[in-house]
Amino acid sequence: MIQSVRGTKDILPDDIHLWNFVEGVFKKISSSYGYSELRTPIFEKTEVFVRSIGEETDIVNKEMYSFLDRSNESITLRPEGTAPLVRAVIQNSLIQQSNLLRLWYYGPFFRYERPQKGRQRQFHQYGAECIGSEYPESDAEIISLACDILKGIGIKNFKVLINSLGNNESRDKYREELIAYLSNHLSELSEDSRRRFEKNPLRVLDSKDEKDIELTNSAPSILDFLDKESIEHFEGVKNILTKLDIDFTVHPKLVRGLDYYNHTVFEFQSSELGAQDSIGGGGRYNQLFTEFGAKQTPAVGFAFGVERLIIILEKIIEKDKLVQKPDIFIVSGLNPDDDYYLSLVKKLRNLNLKVITDLNRRSFKAQMKESNRVGAKFALLLGEDEKNSNNITLKRLEDGFQQTISFGSIENFIFDNK
Ligand code: HAM
Repeated sequence: MIQSVRGTKDILPDDIHLWNFVEGVFKKISSSYGYSELRTPIFEKTEVFVRSIGEETDIVNKEMYSFLDRSNESITLRPEGTAPLVRAVIQNSLIQQSNLLRLWYYGPFFRYERPQKGRQRQFHQYGAECIGSEYPESDAEIISLACDILKGIGIKNFKVLINSLGNNESRDKYREELIAYLSNHLSELSEDSRRRFEKNPLRVLDSKDEKDIELTNSAPSILDFLDKESIEHFEGVKNILTKLDIDFTVHPKLVRGLDYYNHTVFEFQSSELGAQDSIGGGGRYNQLFTEFGAKQTPAVGFAFGVERLIIILEKIIEKDKLVQKPDIFIVSGLNPDDDYYLSLVKKLRNLNLKVITDLNRRSFKAQMKESNRVGAKFALLLGEDEKNSNNITLKRLEDGFQQTISFGSIENFIFDNK
């Protein structure tokens, strides 16, 4: 049997209700914040990602699905949504039309990672980006939107970690200091961190290795290197979050794995997830537009990993509650091409009812059993008697209440007895 590709998953009918539910929350809450959806293609020219995410990041170095197409162009399946969205905003001149853009996106993304619970090679993200404001209120809006989505899904138990990487000058000064500190401890660092040290020293702060964690706990803190402008911005964000009653923890070692961030960075974590505890994250990226050759445009955004939201949702919700059970199961003794039977099914479906019929020509008794198995509200019993008298018999399965009524009064009966 041919199996699916490692790190990809089918979403089966039994689970789709969870997905439909979170997708509904994404739409509803994004809209209540004035965010509009933007959909980009699933693949882009490779340079869209290399330029923006950074050549020395894990994503670009080891995780991208890149290939040459038939005209020898290097193409990459999108590993994230921010770079394609910025590309689309520039290409379609959206920022000229409005000086503030509030956008969201949702869909599949691709990273060649070692699969484990909550980590796949094809996964889904919901993300939102606020483009065109340099002020802390836009950082706060994005964080608030993310928190409201989590709450809308019913997730209450999550942590918000925030940090500031400052502006370029602050970050460069800190980088030098960190390199000086780490150079004195190189031999004690894990192999992975020694490699990161060479290419992207800030990422050493991200290491999950216990010894590295201990060592970087005593490293200089970026917060001591922020200049006046960077401090003011960070204080502004924290102030609004506090006023909005959003609980957050300042985590000076939070740097995030993409190069495009400056100023505020943040992450949402849940203890329900185990090793992959990050539900989502984001930050400010004021330089990204210039990487694409456009005018400098301040922006801030975040993305959630939807598989991780679903893992948590499964723990906190009874899946059955999300399933829309059939309104009517038709238990019929008439022929499958009988005019009376067909016009009845058509009429009921036109009333926007969920109507299930038997397609296996099963016995009356077997159909009755099936109507209970699928959890239908009503069994509609139909035989020659009903047909000849232009009637139908409806049985409410919950309590067995049964009545024979005329074809014309079905609608009233169903809505009165639901
Ligand atoms: P990211 O931290 O790389 O940020 O990804 C955001 C979230 O996507 C992660 O926190 C995680 O929940 C989920 N995720 C990432 N990789 C996987 C995977 N292999 N399997 C399952 N879930 C995964 C970004 O992508 C930025 N574009 C976020 C952003 C938007 N920054 C500014 N705007």
